[in-house]
Amino acid sequence: MDFKSGIDTARLPQHVAIIMDGNGRWAKAHGKPRVFGHRNGVRSVKAVTEAAAELGIPYLTLYAFSTENWNRPSREVNALMQLLVRTIRRELRTLQDNDIRLHTIGDTSRLPVQTANSLQEAIAATRNHQRMTLTLALNYSARQEMTRAARMIAHAASEGKLDPAHLDEAAVADFLYTSTMPDPELLIRTSGEFRISNFLLWQIAYAELYFTPVMWPDFGKDQFHEAIRDYQRRERRFGKTSEQLMTH
Ligand code: IPE
Ligand code: IPE
Ligand code: MG
Repeated sequence: MDFKSGIDTARLPQHVAIIMDGNGRWAKAHGKPRVFGHRNGVRSVKAVTEAAAELGIPYLTLYAFSTENWNRPSREVNALMQLLVRTIRRELRTLQDNDIRLHTIGDTSRLPVQTANSLQEAIAATRNHQRMTLTLALNYSARQEMTRAARMIAHAASEGKLDPAHLDEAAVADFLYTSTMPDPELLIRTSGEFRISNFLLWQIAYAELYFTPVMWPDFGKDQFHEAIRDYQRRERRFGKTSEQLMTH
């Protein structure tokens, strides 16, 4: 038990995924351009990463750029990509000092070269870290991920490397970007929107969903702790009855 936060550290979600939303509206409310919101969103990324690592949550996955986000004005897309490069370079030391491993999901081959390079450097430099895996979803969408998996499965079957009759759920999961991670047990979305926006559709089959009106730049350690406490107040039944769970 962590008494300061009121969190039971024996019952932590092993994987928390976050749809970081509301940077643009936060900036607008402050009379500033959207990029100002993204810059302040980076502070929240830092705060939440720290909070998750301190508690002992082994996997944290952040939705940073969706395949749909390419449809934004190119000025904003460029600013986001530059911000990503700068942040990774600036924070690599912090990841190393805190034993955090950086990982990405999504089609990173489509990212600007400079962005892809700095990501690769940071991933390589942190590959042996154990305390927590921080995954950034970049150029990610769940349908793209599942289509890619279907393509790979079909290919393996056509080459005789996989028997369609033996394809089970675990085998499908092996073809997803998240094959080395447990499924998220808690999914958080900020900014008061109640949608999933093409994020981890397969993996969140049984996740607890937490929606908060707080805009991402205002989401810090306290708000993260509140989400974890809310998660711990819930009863996860997985199809069973409440009484069945009591008998354990
Ligand atoms: C989330 O904030 C950040 C990204 C999607 C990159 P938004 O930029 O979507 O902010 P709103 O939703 O327009 O307020
Ligand atoms: C979802 O946020 C994607 C990320 C957080 C990167 P959006 O702001 O792009 O989602 P929609 O378009 O409002 O659903
Ligand atoms: Mg948004």
